[in-house]
Amino acid sequence: MSDSSIPASKQTPPANPWLHFVERCEACTACSLNQERKQAVVWRGSVKANLMIIGEGPGEREDEEGLPFVGRSGELLDTLLAAQELGPESYHIANVVKCRPPNNREPSLEEARACRPLLNEQFRFVRPQVILLMGGSAYKYFTGDLDTGITKVRGRWIQKGSYWIMPTFHPAYILRDSRNKAALWEDMTKVRDKLEELRLIPPVKG
Ligand code: URA
Repeated sequence: MSDSSIPASKQTPPANPWLHFVERCEACTACSLNQERKQAVVWRGSVKANLMIIGEGPGEREDEEGLPFVGRSGELLDTLLAAQELGPESYHIANVVKCRPPNNREPSLEEARACRPLLNEQFRFVRPQVILLMGGSAYKYFTGDLDTGITKVRGRWIQKGSYWIMPTFHPAYILRDSRNKAALWEDMTKVRDKLEELRLIPPVKG
C-alpha cells in the first residue's frame, strides 16, 4: 500500500539503479567543477567488473565525449590493457572527480572529497576485487594517504579488506617521459597476474 506522505521517488525504486546513479552524477553540483564542465564523466567498460581503474579526472576530450580516458592517455591505457588481454568486459574505468578541472589542473582535496560519495556508490555497483590507481592524485585521493608520492608506492600491492590496490604511474606522465614505461607495464602485468591468481580471468595461453 502506498503512503501519500512519502515522496513518490522514495516509494518506487528506480527501474534501473545504475542509470539512475549515472543521472544523479550528471546532475551533481556538489562542488564548483560543475560550473565549467560540458558534462560529467562517469565511466566506461562494464558496470560490474573484477578490475576497477581509477584516474585523476576528465580532460578536454573526456569532457567533450562524456567518457573517461578517451584522449591520448586513454589510447595508451587501452593499448596496454589490450596487450594484457584485458577487454572492456573485465574492467570499469572511473576517476576521482567526475568533472573536468579547468585547464586540466589537479583536482583539489575539497573537490575530491565532494565527489567521493559518488565514487563510493559507484564502487558498490562495480564490486571490483582489484583496483588500479593511475597516478599520484588517484593514489592520494582514493587511499587518503596525502603525503606519499606515487614513485614511492607504485608497483606495491595494498590489501584492503577483500580487495587489492595497485598504484601506478599515470599514462599522461609516461607520454611526457617514457623512461618509466617499463614500470607501468610491469604494474599492469602484476594486475593481470593478480586477476589470474584470484581466478577472476583465465590464464593467458602460452
Ligand atoms: N586522465 C585521467 O586521469 N582521467 C581521464 O579520464 C583522462 C585523462
